[in-house]
Amino acid sequence: MNVQALPATKGNHNLLSYEETAANFDWSTVEKEFSWSTTGKVNMAFEAIDRHALSDKKDKVALYYSDAKRDEKYTFEQMSQMSNRAGNVLKSVGVEKGDRVFIFMPRSPELYFSVLGAIKLGAIVGPLFEAFMEGAVRDRLEDSAAKVLVTTPDLLERVPVGDLPNLETVFIIGDNVKEEGPIKDFNKLMQEASSQLEITWVDREDGLILHYTSGSTGKPKGVLHVHNAMLQHYQTARWVLDLQDDDVYWCTADPGWVTGTSYGIFGPWLCGVTNVIRGGRFSPQDWYETLQRYQVSVWYSAPTAFRMLMSAGDELVKQYDLSNIRHILSVGEPLNPEVVRWGSKVFDLRIHDTWWMTETGAQLICNYPCMDIKPGSMGRPIPGVKAAIIDDQGNELPPNRMGNLAIAKGWPSMMRTIWNNEEKYQSYFEIDGWYVSGDSAYMDEEGYFWFQGRIDDVIMTAGERVGPFEVESKLIEHPAVAEAGVIGKPDPVRGEIIKAFIALREGYEQSDELIEEIRNFVKKGLAAHAAPREIEFREKLPKTRSGKIMRRVLKAWELDLPTGDLSTMED
Ligand code: PRX
Repeated sequence: MNVQALPATKGNHNLLSYEETAANFDWSTVEKEFSWSTTGKVNMAFEAIDRHALSDKKDKVALYYSDAKRDEKYTFEQMSQMSNRAGNVLKSVGVEKGDRVFIFMPRSPELYFSVLGAIKLGAIVGPLFEAFMEGAVRDRLEDSAAKVLVTTPDLLERVPVGDLPNLETVFIIGDNVKEEGPIKDFNKLMQEASSQLEITWVDREDGLILHYTSGSTGKPKGVLHVHNAMLQHYQTARWVLDLQDDDVYWCTADPGWVTGTSYGIFGPWLCGVTNVIRGGRFSPQDWYETLQRYQVSVWYSAPTAFRMLMSAGDELVKQYDLSNIRHILSVGEPLNPEVVRWGSKVFDLRIHDTWWMTETGAQLICNYPCMDIKPGSMGRPIPGVKAAIIDDQGNELPPNRMGNLAIAKGWPSMMRTIWNNEEKYQSYFEIDGWYVSGDSAYMDEEGYFWFQGRIDDVIMTAGERVGPFEVESKLIEHPAVAEAGVIGKPDPVRGEIIKAFIALREGYEQSDELIEEIRNFVKKGLAAHAAPREIEFREKLPKTRSGKIMRRVLKAWELDLPTGDLSTMED
């Protein structure tokens, strides 16, 4: 491997020496940062917000929020009060410990108040990305048996309220809300609610958040995380994000995805750091302006966004004063060496790649300010965690051999179950002692990990994880579609795009209008980011004798690769 390593960053960093810390670290030392190590009573929202509201940080800005219409800020004390109000609103309709409270809306201060308010009651929060359409919303609310939903007037039409017997209350955040049946006016009730709330203390192993994510088969699965995850959210926010008291931090991820909660809510606030949230859609100008306006010092984003900024040109970035940025990080897909080099050129900083998954709850393999970076590598396991490359029998492979990227079971933020699907949960741990990630990778002689690809067919498009099965299921609901097979096709900006191969039913002719119609059908039924960008019609699709679409063969067709063993294919 012939890479030019970028030397460690200068400055005072929280993690001083990777080797030394990795050799000596023990998670029990992190517990002592929190009062619950002595009382045994824990609540994430208390540790993230109220703890600071009760300290000399109470007047420090916790949240800067802005979008095209709003421009607001909240101190830790105000965040504490607003989340207490939200907690009281939820309590008024009977929300209790363990209930699932789903939040389906674009970013707004109210989203954060509701998430924290629900957690204060010991409820389990289910964040839903705003782009989900009715089918996706239904699946998640049904599977989790959600009791309460917080949403907006625009999104309400995608919620099949009448079909969800467990859904008792729907709070609407909007103007002139007509209260009727299960519908309640959130803002009105917020005004009436008390800003005092008795927090519900829970056990460290009690449920905190339920993130639905895609696999290669079946419907999306609900990954459950517990309050104990805070140990790792906190410690990685210190070591990896390198958060320090005077930092202004911006994580660009939406809380509908795990990065937007673990590192858009929990990590930074556990450290008592000022958090920037920018609503609305991506645009290079808007993002650079946000970095400049708030004097962001630590910035956590994703390869697709960096690639889009890169293609917007270096002239644009030069128009902004971004001199406050001192640390940049990336997650979600492979970070190309080219992007790291671009970062060095325009920001004069290294971009630090981090690897983890919805299931892992927090960062696991990362690059640290105190460590040299090899562009293209995800870095090394965080102290206190063992990662390895193993074969299918669980043998650890020597350096430079490709295999399963696996993590020794039992890190603090590990998922605790897949909701309603213990069997699926167990399937991650079939090799004794290991969590098998589904990614393939190798480790070099110096212990750096290099991502190679997914072992299953999961697609990562623009940093979002899409299950081919969900898209195929939606496609075959369209009257023209007889069979559908979906793959990820490499793309220079988005990492991968979704490509669908379709066999039409008799009586249908292929046409550009039909392609557009099918694409919209998936957009409306599932989500815009799940709609195939490319559709190709085929007379027949490759299938196994048992009728399973062979995506591997579709991929080989697409990429002009050998198709491999076809012995299980039907004639
Ligand atoms: O394939 C890996 C890819 O994203 C998957 C996890 O997706 P999700 O659960 O949506 O979580 C994304 C953000 C935490 C992984 O199995 N992935 C994540 N980070 C990286 C990555 N691939 C390459 N490099 C990374 N740094």
